[in-house]
Amino acid sequence: MRPYDTRIRARRGQPVALAILALLACSLRFADAATAPAKTSKYLYAWAGAQNASLARDSLFVFSVEDGPDFGKLLNIVETPYNGLEPHHCRTSVTGRWLACSCMLAVFFKLPSIIFFSLADPAKPVMLTNVTLPIHSAVADEFVATPDGGFLATMMTNASGWAPGRVARYDGNLKLVGEYPEDLSQLAPAPGFNPHGIGADFTHQTMLTVDYLEPASSLVGNTLIYRKTARLWSLKNMSIIGTYVLPETQKSKGAMDAVAIGETGGYYLTGGNGRLMYLNGSLGEKAVPEVVYHLGPKDGSAVSCILQPFRRGTRLLMSMFAYGYVVLLNTTNPRRPQALDAYTLPYRAGGHVVRISKDERLVAVATYFLDEGAIGQIHYPGDRTVRFIRLNVPGTRFVTKEEWPYSRGPVLNFTELLPGKGGFRTHGLAFL
Ligand SMILES: *[C@@H]1O[C@H](CO)[C@@H](O)[C@H](O)[C@H]1NC(C)=O
Ligand SMILES: *[C@@H]1O[C@H](CO)[C@@H](O)[C@H](O)[C@H]1NC(C)=O
Ligand SMILES: *[C@@H]1O[C@H](CO)[C@@H](O)[C@H](O)[C@H]1NC(C)=O
Ligand SMILES: *[C@@H]1O[C@H](CO)[C@@H](O)[C@H](O)[C@H]1NC(C)=O
Ligand SMILES: *[C@@H]1O[C@H](CO)[C@@H](O)[C@H](O)[C@H]1NC(C)=O
Ligand SMILES: *[C@@H]1O[C@H](CO)[C@@H](O)[C@H](O)[C@H]1NC(C)=O
Ligand SMILES: *[C@@H]1O[C@H](CO)[C@@H](O)[C@H](O)[C@H]1NC(C)=O
Repeated sequence: MRPYDTRIRARRGQPVALAILALLACSLRFADAATAPAKTSKYLYAWAGAQNASLARDSLFVFSVEDGPDFGKLLNIVETPYNGLEPHHCRTSVTGRWLACSCMLAVFFKLPSIIFFSLADPAKPVMLTNVTLPIHSAVADEFVATPDGGFLATMMTNASGWAPGRVARYDGNLKLVGEYPEDLSQLAPAPGFNPHGIGADFTHQTMLTVDYLEPASSLVGNTLIYRKTARLWSLKNMSIIGTYVLPETQKSKGAMDAVAIGETGGYYLTGGNGRLMYLNGSLGEKAVPEVVYHLGPKDGSAVSCILQPFRRGTRLLMSMFAYGYVVLLNTTNPRRPQALDAYTLPYRAGGHVVRISKDERLVAVATYFLDEGAIGQIHYPGDRTVRFIRLNVPGTRFVTKEEWPYSRGPVLNFTELLPGKGGFRTHGLAFL
């Protein structure tokens, strides 16, 4: 089932001149930004849970992604001392000094909700044990790298695993700055604060978080509680300036992700039901989230997941677990996104976390979602791989196998990657 095929293939053959102009505009605009663009990524970090606790620990895998014979080679594994963290998302700091990794179920086993690694030697990350963890909150999900070299982290819950959660802020030395909102009365319009996706626009000094689900409700014996709210924040005072109920949330399995559309002041969010929504953060509390794109069947069963915007906000990758796609959208006009291409994963592989390299040409997709095993009700194991896709230079389509030999491989298969260690469930990915 590929309902958008006709639109996808129609737009090939974009004039090269346009692409060169776009590249020039990009390098001019970001010449003095904190993040140096356009460098090629050398490493991919994959954050994975051990499937069999008697054979292995939850671990961070380091792969080479430099073009050449070593592409996809496993360079290193950093074992944590833990099992049961449920490794979730990862993000490198803008300085490249730190890697932050979240742990989805850790709080239920009294384990840390965030694990930080030093990337002083990027091929050999070192787990840090000297970072103060959030005090009022737990169940970390997603990070935004802040210009000062630190992070913002969504914490889905309070310290014991229930709403309200917080957004934690770390500075460039990984000092915990605070957990927000400090004034919980700001949550009054929608008390179920379980922030999951997070995007930030440092030019406009705003941030958007979306509430996904009450984690403890996913454990056996509870009724699953999915959330359908988004909140706009001021980064100046870390206060909430707008709370919105998302439209068309029938069949939604929670609002999973939110990202800033470059520095345009706008945000995309997904409802877990194939709907891509746009919210104009510049309108503050008066903003109205609108559905601007719809992927998969009307009933919402697509399970749209993670969004990966490009630096300038002109392209977006969106993964869809149930139907196994990664779609490339032209988001130059953010309220009228157009599909440019789609990468199809094998039947039942699943497609979840999707990340792009620094030069915005290499895409990595992880196919494990969440399998809570005997303790929980969510069982979306996917085929537990990481796959690579490459984009052409103007970023208008995925390249073919003839153009790039690894375009449909290698498949990093976490079931058989480490013989004797059992399989791994790989979720979080981060390029450096
Ligand atoms: C875990 O590994 C041990 C040792 O090989 C094995 O006995 C056990 O059955 C495995 N458990 C599961 C759940 O696969
Ligand atoms: C924690 O340890 C790392 C690595 O040794 C070091 O770079 C960092 O400064 C330490 N952080 C704090 C807050 O002490
Ligand atoms: C977290 O919230 C739950 C539900 O409201 C409450 O029972 C629990 O005491 C809270 N935990 C903490 C540490 O505040
Ligand atoms: C925070 O700052 C925003 C503007 O950025 C302002 O509208 C809002 O009232 C402030 N909130 C608080 C609680 O100070
Ligand atoms: C967002 O709102 C601002 C402020 O009203 C406006 O200037 C801008 O055009 C809007 N953006 C879009 C894409 O509608
Ligand atoms: C992307 O969208 C913009 C604005 O709608 C359009 O001008 C441009 O041609 C599109 N690019 C491609 C590759 O379709
Ligand atoms: C991964 O390895 C397992 C065990 O060898 C195998 O059953 C499975 O088919 C492989 N998956 C892929 C996508 O190659």
